[in-house]
Order: sequence, then structure tokens, then C-alpha cells
Amino acid sequence: MAGDRKSVVVTGGASGIGRAAAERLARGGWDVLAVDLNAEQLAWTEGAEHVSAMTADVSSEEDNQRIADEADKLFGGLDAAIFNAGITGGGSIDAMPTENFQRVFSINMMGPVLGIRAMLPLLRKRENGSIVVTSSTMGVGGDSENWAYGMAKHALIGLVRSLSRELGWEGIRINALCPGPTKTGMTGNIEEVAPAHYDLLKRAVPLQRWAEADEMASVMEFLVSPGASYVTGHAMVADGGTIVGTGLLEPKAGSQNVIPGGINEVELADER
Ligand SMILES: NC(=O)c1ccc[n+]([C@@H]2O[C@H](COP(=O)([O-])OP(=O)(O)OC[C@H]3O[C@@H](n4cnc5c(N)ncnc54)[C@H](O)[C@@H]3O)[C@@H](O)[C@H]2O)c1
Repeated sequence: MAGDRKSVVVTGGASGIGRAAAERLARGGWDVLAVDLNAEQLAWTEGAEHVSAMTADVSSEEDNQRIADEADKLFGGLDAAIFNAGITGGGSIDAMPTENFQRVFSINMMGPVLGIRAMLPLLRKRENGSIVVTSSTMGVGGDSENWAYGMAKHALIGLVRSLSRELGWEGIRINALCPGPTKTGMTGNIEEVAPAHYDLLKRAVPLQRWAEADEMASVMEFLVSPGASYVTGHAMVADGGTIVGTGLLEPKAGSQNVIPGGINEVELADER
């Protein structure tokens, strides 16, 4: 390990949340290995201080071993591993082609499983290793024609809860981050190509906006930091308040104010 710097692998590090995490951690005292399938988009790492990069497919067992070998060569162990690479994949239960949902499962669900297995020996070389996997609000709720993605993201929370118990005795923590709608490569130029959908999602968020990728990266930074030393097995939702609602009403449409006979704001104001 170079000086006091800690070391971390970030998958999906070419774009969006993974890139933001790699940049933030490199600024914050970490040596980062950014991993992605997309070699072109990894170009941002060229000349970036404290960031190395490699191309790999997280759904491949062999590639995960290559990632571990590279991290071992660079850092001689790992203090943290962030399994964040993912793809979207919508489609109805009737029509979604089998190969499509199997691809969603192999990248979004099996990617972190294979990654954790490959990276564990490196995490065990350090004290207080920690793991973060990127789930989603789709890992705690459901949505129409998004069952495969949602199923994979739910599975990650199951993985985190089970492994927190399996690895806790070794001092290794594992948590999930569940982002809400975040502006990244995945959501691309949705604002231009599907403005109605973009607005609909925005209106469902009490904070009334999409998140920036760095707002997710900052939660990841916390989860791998000593500040989260007693946090494990947790699915941390960062969604601007979306999932705590029923989804039936817009954030400011107070249901109690429209129910006849209920005590409402007007009556309370009259009493005062
Ligand atoms: N953007 C959102 O609104 C949102 C919301 C909830 C969860 N997420 C999750 O956040 C994570 C990051 O996504 P993002 O929004 O930053 O999207 P993104 O497309 O900007 O980044 C994902 C990265 O993963 C890489 N990747 C895809 N398949 C890979 C593979 N097989 N091997 C290696 N790399 C691969 C892509 O090349 C890309 O660089 C994903 O797991 C996604 O499901 C995103």
C-alpha cells in the first residue's frame, strides 16, 4: 500500500455512479482500480491521479479473477470493493426474451456474487474490509415491466443481509446502496428523448429532482469509511424520499385534506 492510502476496486467505473465514486474516492485518499466493459469510456482515467483502470466483464468468473490479480499486483490487497456495474433491462413477463433476462441476471446479480468471491482473499489481507453493492429502489419496490431488473436488485439485498452475517465475524462489512433516479449513462438523455417519463419520475420524488451521480458516490464513500464502522447488512436508500410514499399521490397532495369529515388544515386553522 502506498503511504496511508487505502485501496478499492470500483466496477462500472467508466460512467455514471461508478465513475463518480472512483473520482470521489481518489480525491479522498484512496487508490482506485476502475473496472468496466467499456474501454472507450474508461479513457477518463488516463492521467487521473490515483486511478488505474482495466477492462473486464463482471459477469465472467475468469474476468473477476483477472480483476483480483490486477488489484493484488497494484495494491497487495483491498480495503474495499464496490460492485456497481449494471445494465437496465425491461420487458413484460410474457414477452421478454429469455436471453435478455438472463443477461440482466448475469451482470446485475451474478456479477457481484462472482466479484465478491474473487475479491474476498484480498479483503482478508486488510483489517476492516468493506463491500458495497449497488442495488436500486427497484430492490425494495416493484415496477411494471421491470421484473428482471427488480428481481436482480432484490437479490442483491438478500446477498448483503446473508453475507453480513457470514463475513461479519471476520470484520468484513457489506452494504447495499439503493439509488433513486440518477442522471448517468444508464438514464442517458432521457430528459430529451422521453421528457414525459423524466418529469413523471421527477414529480414522484419529494425532493422534486433527479440525483446527480456524485450524490450516490458520497453515500458509497460513507459506507466504505470508518464512519460506517458499525454499519453492515444494510440497504441504504438514497432516493430523495420517493419510496416512503404510497406512490398514489404527488408529494404535496395531502390525502387527509381531501377526505370529507377528517380534521384538515382548514379546520385546524379555524380553531387557532
Ligand atoms: N441511474 C439510475 O437512475 C440508477 C438507479 C438505481 C440503480 N442504479 C444502478 O447503479 C449502477 C450504476 O449505473 P449507472 O446509473 O451509473 O449507469 P451507467 O450506465 O452510467 O454505468 C454503468 C456502467 O457499468 C458498465 N457495465 C455494464 N455491464 C458491464 C459488465 N458486464 N462488465 C463490466 N462493466 C459493465 C457500463 O459499461 C457502464 O459504464 C447500476 O448497477 C444500476 O443498476 C442506477
